[in-house]
Amino acid sequence: MMHQTIRSGSPTLSDDRDAHLRLDGLTKRYGDSVAVAALDLAVPKGELVALLGPSGCGKTTTLRMVAGLIKPTDGRIVVASQDITQVPTYRRDMGLVFQSYALFPHMTVAKNVAFGLEMRSLPKPEIERRVKEALAMVRLEALAERKPRELSGGQQQRVALARALVIRPSILLLDEPLSNLDAKLRDEMRNEIRDIQQSLGITAVFVTHDQVEALSMCDKVVVMRGGKLEQMGTPVEVYEHPATPFVASFVGRTNRLEGIAQGDGRVAIGSMAVQVPGRPGGKVEIMIRPHRMKLVDVGSGEDAASEGVNRLAGSLTRVTFVGDLLQYHVDVDGTEIVVEAASDHGRGFRKVGAPVAVLWRVEDTMVFGRGA
Ligand SMILES: Nc1ncnc2c1ncn2[C@@H]1O[C@H](COP(=O)(O)OP(=O)(O)O)[C@@H](O)[C@H]1O
Ligand SMILES: [Mg+2]
Repeated sequence: MMHQTIRSGSPTLSDDRDAHLRLDGLTKRYGDSVAVAALDLAVPKGELVALLGPSGCGKTTTLRMVAGLIKPTDGRIVVASQDITQVPTYRRDMGLVFQSYALFPHMTVAKNVAFGLEMRSLPKPEIERRVKEALAMVRLEALAERKPRELSGGQQQRVALARALVIRPSILLLDEPLSNLDAKLRDEMRNEIRDIQQSLGITAVFVTHDQVEALSMCDKVVVMRGGKLEQMGTPVEVYEHPATPFVASFVGRTNRLEGIAQGDGRVAIGSMAVQVPGRPGGKVEIMIRPHRMKLVDVGSGEDAASEGVNRLAGSLTRVTFVGDLLQYHVDVDGTEIVVEAASDHGRGFRKVGAPVAVLWRVEDTMVFGRGA
């Protein structure tokens, strides 16, 4: 199959009438430059959707337009079938969490969380009850009287989350909320945010440049590039069936080779040839995930191409030990291929410079046309 023909994204208005949040041609221009270009998106009620893409691709601008903090140049924002494009921020009923916690430093945790409710002039007992409830949700009841500076980064971000949720928003918007946390805490907070989002059944949009975060937490992933939607799908769809080479290389690691398709399912790569799924023609790029490849010693019993298995010969240039993985760097005719294998107690080191072969299954080969 040609991967470029698979388009699981581009939601149309007809097939998502029950979307809770819908963006319809949403556009933001700054002078001549386009930050967000006619973005169409439908988020079903209760789903957590990631906006994933490199820095500058328009994620924050999109989120801030949804929140009402930036005025769109064009397009519409629809929530529960109501056009809210012109509705001011404070009436949009959205909870926001940013990368910087943006807490009031002079107020206690409880006061920070109560702020939104006090702005809405709720009765005092109601405020107390809801603040307690929100702090329980993020496991901070015991720290209610502390000031933000007396909290760790993770705790501060949990206060920010409680503050966003306490108003019982219809949509939760999170902009890189975990980027300031260290790796271990980030893992914990991922699960915590996901659990809370699911237990509340709240519709949420999560902005991140981190593919692991997007894949592991979210129901759908929207891959953005240059202000445009590149692909939308479930985490498995965007990882296993990337619509474009950009998605393939941004969502997960890939090896990339250029070749000329022979029209019979074979692709010539320099003096070598490999088999690919389908019958592409012309110039193609093929991509293979490093963990789907296997490194073998030339001349060993395992070193044989067989039906459904591709083989490229090269030489080993580097072995990197990264704890759970070994990464073998192989020079194949001037192109670097990386093969990953479980490190198995550090065993598996090989001599750099040795002739090796790389094997992988034909079905694990992703193929993309390179245009005319
Ligand atoms: N106030 C602004 N004026 C001009 N350009 C802006 C402004 N805000 C953002 N941009 C540009 O819009 C693009 C998208 O920015 P942003 O949405 O912040 O990206 P991301 O959040 O994906 O990193 C970038 O090229 C950025 O430089
Ligand atoms: Mg941003």
